Amino acid sequence: MKKALKVGIGLTLGAVVAVAGAVMLVGAKAGADPTDAAQVARGRVVYAEQCASCHGVRLEGQPNWQSRKPDGRLPAPPHDASGHTWHHPDPDLFKITKQGIAAFAPPDYSSDMPAFGSSLSDADIWAVIAFIKSSWPEEIRRRHTAMSERSKN
Ligand code: HEC
Repeated sequence: MKKALKVGIGLTLGAVVAVAGAVMLVGAKAGADPTDAAQVARGRVVYAEQCASCHGVRLEGQPNWQSRKPDGRLPAPPHDASGHTWHHPDPDLFKITKQGIAAFAPPDYSSDMPAFGSSLSDADIWAVIAFIKSSWPEEIRRRHTAMSERSKN
């Protein structure tokens, strides 16, 4: 009897571990991996179609991106290593792209950054972030990864 109970518990634990493993595998897709060639290729297309008009075809941003325009709004910043984008961990980059700057700014803040939640799938958003990350030098990527890891805690 005792032995049967132990086997039963063992099987149940095994099933729980298997389910958790499967969930983690599915979850792993929700992320931006700059070494995943397929994800980066998809992101390159999304970027060209949806982001390049403001953030620049070479991710260089708009001129004088740190100074507000006459209408009080900020120009689009670069997404390459010279910009500020890499100072945000992955989940924040995802949120800004999906919900717009409004996700982080006070309610009366006006910005030209659109929210892409209704026009891009989550997978497309992660892909474009993977593409942006793939443009960063190794050292910036390393620091960004460390920061994204810390932000999970
Ligand atoms: C119509 C112009 C426009 C388009 C198109 C656009 N952006 Fe932006 N984006 C901006 C502006 C302007 C800002 C700065 C917003 C502010 O701080 O007010 C910004 C800011 C950002 C930031 C925050 C950067 C930082 O350093 O804080 C991210 C991330 C971002 N955009 C991602 C994207 C992505 C990804 C796309 C394409 C899917 C995209 N943007 C398309 C104008 C645009």
